[in-house]
Amino acid sequence: MILGAETRSASPGSHPPKHAKAHRTCRGPNHTARALARAAGLTCFCFLACLMLIVSPAPAQPRLVDLINADRPLVIAHRGYSGLAPENTLPAFELALAVGADLVELDTHPSRDGVPMVIHDATLDRTTDAVERWGRKQIPVNAHTAAELQTLDAGRWFHARYAGTRLPTLREALETVRAAGGRVLIECKVGDPDVLAALLQTNRFTDDVVVQSFNWEFLHQFHARAPEVVLGALGPPSRLVDGSTPVGLSGTLNERWLREARRTGARLVVWNQKQLSRTAVNTAVEQGFRVWAYTANTPEQFERLLALGVHGIITDHPARLWRLLALRRPAPARDP
Ligand code: G3P
Ligand code: CA
Repeated sequence: MILGAETRSASPGSHPPKHAKAHRTCRGPNHTARALARAAGLTCFCFLACLMLIVSPAPAQPRLVDLINADRPLVIAHRGYSGLAPENTLPAFELALAVGADLVELDTHPSRDGVPMVIHDATLDRTTDAVERWGRKQIPVNAHTAAELQTLDAGRWFHARYAGTRLPTLREALETVRAAGGRVLIECKVGDPDVLAALLQTNRFTDDVVVQSFNWEFLHQFHARAPEVVLGALGPPSRLVDGSTPVGLSGTLNERWLREARRTGARLVVWNQKQLSRTAVNTAVEQGFRVWAYTANTPEQFERLLALGVHGIITDHPARLWRLLALRRPAPARDP
């Protein structure tokens, strides 16, 4: 130990070495070498520390179940930060996480070769350059393979700065969000419960996602294959657990919907904000559900939903919602 040896030789009462001069002469180059080695070691240490800071994983997140049960409303970015970036793309997800969204919502449809792709519409027209590229309108997502779909531009329609942005596969989206320490609310528009369960289980995504769908038959089937995954009954539904289409029923959340939602295995009801009431939220809570609302973007909508007592708000503007939540908290008490 260099430091120890030097400290000993300099300690009070110690005797100088017999051949101090010769020793010093001898020590000069060695000392310089040691100093250089120390400086190099220190530089190396600083470099490694900086590197670790840069590449270290995001801070530890609460478990998903604790996040869902948090005693504050969750901020859920609708199709990513879709107010500022092209919806359902990696830049939109990264931006949402950068402003602290608790979850990133996205939509999936399968490609022709069965790969879950991240896109909202069943056709490519609105959010890609497919019409221009392939010279046809109303091209279904499932008319092309994943590889073909990934040659499309899914960003330029939103803004030139996003030109070249690709349609993500669900797996790419999940990996991107996981790498940033975030969670995903997967809305399965169309899909095979077996394919989704296998994707989540094989890649160990099951603890970091919530799966929701308007198709409650899909949820019921998915729950049988992956009971460990948290489910959201998205409503009002387009299909009931038995595969039938609901007809003549009010879209407002009520006891009837909650009974049916329970059959899917869902722990959350995710409901149209316009079809939620205080009574409905209270009833859902009494029955053990958490309630999330979609899609709210204005301060008035946020305030109304918070007053109803919802546990999560899905929004195109997550930073706007965070700001409102921050400003409505009482200021911390000051010392006199
Ligand atoms: O998360 C719920 C919400 O996304 C449902 O509506 O049409 O935006 O998928 P939509
Ligand atoms: Ca959606």
